[in-house]
Amino acid sequence: MVIWGLVLGAMLVAIVAYLCLPGLLRQRRPQEPPLDKGCIPWVGHAMAFQKNMFEFLRGKWAKDGDVFTVLLGGEFFTFVMDPLSFRPIIKNTEKKLDFVQYAEEVVQKVYGYQRLQGDYQIIHTASTKYLMGDGLKDLNQAVLDCLSLVLLEPGDPKLGATHWQEDGLFHFCYNIMFKAGYLSLFGCTKDKEQDLLQAEEVFKKFRRFDILLPRFLYSLLGPRERLEMGQLQCLFHKMLSVRHNQEKEEGMSNWLRHMLRYLSEWGTTPAVLAKFSFMMLWASQGNMGPSSFWALLFLLKHPEAMQAVKDEAAQVLRGTKLEAKQSFVLPISALGRTPVLDSVMEETLRLAAAPTLVRVVQEDCTLKMASGHEYLLRRGDRVALFPYLSVHMDPDIHPEPCTFKFDRFLNPNGSRKVDFYKKGKKIHHYSMPWGSGVSICPGRFLALSEMKLFVLLMVTYFDLELVEPDTPVPPIDPGRWGFGITQPSHEVHFRYRLKPMD
Ligand code: HEM
Repeated sequence: MVIWGLVLGAMLVAIVAYLCLPGLLRQRRPQEPPLDKGCIPWVGHAMAFQKNMFEFLRGKWAKDGDVFTVLLGGEFFTFVMDPLSFRPIIKNTEKKLDFVQYAEEVVQKVYGYQRLQGDYQIIHTASTKYLMGDGLKDLNQAVLDCLSLVLLEPGDPKLGATHWQEDGLFHFCYNIMFKAGYLSLFGCTKDKEQDLLQAEEVFKKFRRFDILLPRFLYSLLGPRERLEMGQLQCLFHKMLSVRHNQEKEEGMSNWLRHMLRYLSEWGTTPAVLAKFSFMMLWASQGNMGPSSFWALLFLLKHPEAMQAVKDEAAQVLRGTKLEAKQSFVLPISALGRTPVLDSVMEETLRLAAAPTLVRVVQEDCTLKMASGHEYLLRRGDRVALFPYLSVHMDPDIHPEPCTFKFDRFLNPNGSRKVDFYKKGKKIHHYSMPWGSGVSICPGRFLALSEMKLFVLLMVTYFDLELVEPDTPVPPIDPGRWGFGITQPSHEVHFRYRLKPMD
């Protein structure tokens, strides 16, 4: 017994030493960025980082300058904060920084999906074909039909009814966008009422998963929540399995159908296909509701912006009406004639999008900064960008960066503004909600048109008002920095009603 105890103890010490030693022994070498391992072996600064990544990085930036390395849960992350030096990292011309390895680690943990060689190419081929250009037209129409279905619910006598309804704005936007996005990409059956009920069920589980996700990724869930997360993952694998969705095959988007067909042809098992679908559900829906919430909230808080969007909508949608058969009629081509709304969306994403972009260093290399300074990067470390802090909030690039200015991305002649400067130099990466380079979001054009359709429908067909008009814009939930679109730390209540139709 005693011997077993000793053996176990020795094994434990060996494991802890194995995990902690590289961190403990590591010393900053000449020409490397400032190194901060924190006080706790292996953990490093993970706790402060998880608690409020924005504040943590702001403090480090002020202390250590544009490039610094920190230990976070056993990994060394080098943050680069000077946007004029982003290009070599994003372009990666020397092929020494890899995006796939980090993405693989994350998707394995979150969706249980082990990436297959070449699936990245399949995602990008399908997305180029069906989420951009001409391929996007059909999908935009499907999204509009699904938004009509979700907002007007068949069989519900709401159409024409002019009574006010109250809801949390965040819940409302997330719920509507999720259901419309899920039905248009993952498919509908002929029974629309049943589809809506099912979409509502999936949404409830999705939202629970979404709430647990940041702490799950940082391995900070308690035993009960960990169990719940495991159950949710299994449930999604079941709900999104091919067998469970056979009647939806016809209504499924070409995008998803194309990817699933290719993966099947490679001999991918149905269980792995379901995990892949789960990954696509998250990628396509995790940011849509939150960004639509911020867009509507900023419009509600800025009457001059709301008026400008309404005026533009009235102009491009002249003569369109709500049809008696309960659907919104809106020419999809109108989406190409809305510079004001485009600027509103860009400004919303500047204020709300806070992803972390990560690459793994494949071999020791040198990072050349715009200043001429050179830093050595070590093989196995991660290079990270957090453009929300270093770009979106930079007062040199965006004066009064915390203020919502609906026309920030408009030139005086009404065209899109793309000229922004830092230290007098024109800057290429002046807003990065979609990431950049090889890993840039392949769904960005669909995402934009879907959000614009939603906003257009809401401001055109509905009366909207905040329950407490003077309520300030809520602060951002500090536990979600770095996870794409931010979420508010509390709900904002609003009223809405369909405008009476003549
Ligand atoms: C407001 C909405 C959205 C935002 C802000 C957003 C943002 C992002 C970001 C920041 C990334 C990662 C980039 C990186 O790691 O460098 C990403 C990846 C991705 N997004 Fe989006 N996205 C949105 C909507 C969508 C939609 C609607 C779809 C599909 C229909 C989509 C599909 C994807 C996919 C498949 C990836 C992973 C690409 C890969 O692993 O190769 N996204 N998105």
